[in-house]
Amino acid sequence: MKVLVVGNGAREHAIAAALARSPQKPTLYAFMSALNPGIKELVKDYRLGDTCNPGEVGEYASESGIELAVIGPEAPLAAGVVDALEDQGILCAGPRQAAAQIETDKSFARGLMKDHKLKGTPEVGIFEDAEEACKYLEEYGGDMAVKPAGLTGGKGVKIMGEHFDLEGAKEYIREIFESQMGAIPKVVLEERLIGEEFTLQAFVDGEKIVGVPMVQDHKRAYEGDVGPNTGGMGSYSDRGYVLPFLTQEDYDNAVGIMEDTIKAIREETGFPYKGFLYGQFMATDDGVKVIEYNARLGDPEAMNTLSILESDMLDICLKMADGGLEENVKFSDKATVCKYLVPEGYPEKPLKDVEVTIDKEQVDKLGGILYYASVREEDGKILTSSSRAIAVVGVADTIAEAEKVAQECMEHIKGRLFHRRDIGTAALIQKRHSHMKELRG
Ligand code: AMP
Ligand code: GLY
Repeated sequence: MKVLVVGNGAREHAIAAALARSPQKPTLYAFMSALNPGIKELVKDYRLGDTCNPGEVGEYASESGIELAVIGPEAPLAAGVVDALEDQGILCAGPRQAAAQIETDKSFARGLMKDHKLKGTPEVGIFEDAEEACKYLEEYGGDMAVKPAGLTGGKGVKIMGEHFDLEGAKEYIREIFESQMGAIPKVVLEERLIGEEFTLQAFVDGEKIVGVPMVQDHKRAYEGDVGPNTGGMGSYSDRGYVLPFLTQEDYDNAVGIMEDTIKAIREETGFPYKGFLYGQFMATDDGVKVIEYNARLGDPEAMNTLSILESDMLDICLKMADGGLEENVKFSDKATVCKYLVPEGYPEKPLKDVEVTIDKEQVDKLGGILYYASVREEDGKILTSSSRAIAVVGVADTIAEAEKVAQECMEHIKGRLFHRRDIGTAALIQKRHSHMKELRG
């Protein structure tokens, strides 16, 4: 079977690697906006172009005789790449543009959750006018999160009590409208949630949802969860499906909320939700609440999950595209820790075109798994862009051992890069435990 992977980050490298392990031995193709050296190794052929141009992607897919496409990032979904490919008769593991609004338009997502009275929805208001939003904020009285409705590359969300006070929040609301931030002229205000965040990713076939092990990502750039927000500096998962400071009930409630959400998407848009669904949740003293949805796997969370997937990824992707997903998706009973190497100065003033040298033999010896992100191969050298560069995953019986593997691999990757040493350490996990204990008693 001929399978196309769209995208060129570490998440797509992990998707391609999981597909390459399929016993059905698919022939892989890639459509990328930059040459990912890891994906290049796994595919028979690739094309470099605009992943958000449905015409270009469609043309390459038809020239190559593609039967199934797996779309990694959100931008091609938002641009209608799935709609174009499905209209050409190609199966797609990924939602159509209308269903992908669950990520691409926060006013759609929150409106849907509110209208369908879905569990886990915080107090929320959606506004098309700055002054009305400011009035609501004043009347609410407590701290709120302020979010432009459209995509802002993870940089649009600001929170009262963290980034600013009431006056600062009002100023920011006005700025969102004036600068047309996120391109959708709406702002979403929601209750500030307090707790521990976790990610629950799922495979979805339009009707059925199959959840995967929970993961916790780390957004802040520096150790101790300080510094600016990033795309995610690293993440971990525990043996089984549940993080050590959360409960099976949290897991089950989150899956239940996601099931209700895909039903609501179908009712609102008329399209079934197919593909990966990423739920970002806050475990609070009042149960599990939705922070947001993404219409894709997480980056870095995909690397934790797909590194221990034992089931046939091709089978899963085909069933997401065409129906018939079953509960029997298997993962190895292992803990995982993923750490991202990023260029010095990231995210605010990142160095560019940093050369990276990797002692692959040593990394292999330690059992580390590497996924390439924003790097490109040029004249046999690996060079970074200004974004997250290389993800290193350790897999072991405990989080602490997996952390050690990932950390030891770092010694064998050289360049002007940095990473967070604390992700997955016992000290950090103890902090999460104490926080939950304090909240839930
Ligand atoms: P988002 O872009 O929606 O993922 O938000 C970025 C980050 O802002 C999240 O990872 C949370 O840490 C935080 N955040 C978003 N919404 C809320 C909320 N309602 N309460 C508290 N924190 C939030
Ligand atoms: N890890 C955050 C995201 O994928 O959006």
